[in-house]
Amino acid sequence: ADPLKIGIAGLGTVGASTIRLLDRRANALAANCGRGIVVTAVSARNRARDRGLPLERYRWFDNPVELARDPDVDVFVELMGGEEGAAHEAVKAALDAGKPVVTANKALLARHGVDLARRAEKAGVALNFEAAVAGGVPIIKTLREALIGNNIDRVYGILNGTCNYILTKMEAEGLSFDACLKEAQRLGYAEADPTFDVGGFDTAHKLAILTSLAFGTQVNADAIHVEGIERITTEDLFAADELGYRIKLLGVATRTESGVEQRVHPTMVPKSTPIAQVNGVTNAVAIDADAVPELTLVGPGAGGEATASAVVSDIADIARGRVLAPFGRKSGDLESLAPATMQAH
Ligand code: HSE
Repeated sequence: ADPLKIGIAGLGTVGASTIRLLDRRANALAANCGRGIVVTAVSARNRARDRGLPLERYRWFDNPVELARDPDVDVFVELMGGEEGAAHEAVKAALDAGKPVVTANKALLARHGVDLARRAEKAGVALNFEAAVAGGVPIIKTLREALIGNNIDRVYGILNGTCNYILTKMEAEGLSFDACLKEAQRLGYAEADPTFDVGGFDTAHKLAILTSLAFGTQVNADAIHVEGIERITTEDLFAADELGYRIKLLGVATRTESGVEQRVHPTMVPKSTPIAQVNGVTNAVAIDADAVPELTLVGPGAGGEATASAVVSDIADIARGRVLAPFGRKSGDLESLAPATMQAH
């Protein structure tokens, strides 16, 4: 078969790592998928920046929408970020042109997931987003495919590496919140605007996606009670420690009698639990299901290589010709989720 031609919009840490990973694993991927995978076109805001990539090998586009529509691009890979604007327009353009899309954009999916799923279904193409939640942890495939024989009661976890890094470092080294945030930014874990991380919004976006997959509901980030970690002090962490707990920023979605409840807030977790032992930028997702009562996936939730690993697996699925309903069932079958009543904690 002809090689699958990939266009990548966004050449930050994840975009650059994706190009390197596709290159490094080219032979193995071709053997596994039955056809080669080649990057043919790229777009980014700044062409001049040195990323250590052989950019002369690819066609350059200043405008990601034009890249998405280019007839010589088979698959559009969106690694730009941002819930509105160029990323949104480019993803819509690709789907409407009948092209499969791979995206790591949790904010975009949390806001427009149902509409994008409809467009993908109409075109009969894949919309894959393994990299949007918990980086290298294969939680999307786990919920969409591996656990399909289960009725799920609860999904919860540590979904933001920056927050977990900050909380871990504050506790271990007694450093201030601000000092730890600066370090997380320096290491490249934080979002462009770190308010998304520390305010709990990034966790909420990811939780909204997991909720949809676990419970068959329409993605709805507005239905989440959100509280961040900005007000947590080292004193809080030490006090929790003395009582036998650790404080983690958790995203939790639970099936209740009155519907699915979603919330994000700092939570006291008993030290003996797997989640309490997750340190640093690592993410963890725990699932309570009927046939598999306890399952916890732990792994790197941010960082170029780990996130690129998820992007590559989504591309490989497309190379194999697999098209799954984006949220595990047709968009028309997704139940609507009522906004949460805000509860004080
Ligand atoms: N800022 C995010 C985090 C990156 O810290 O987890 C991955 O989505």
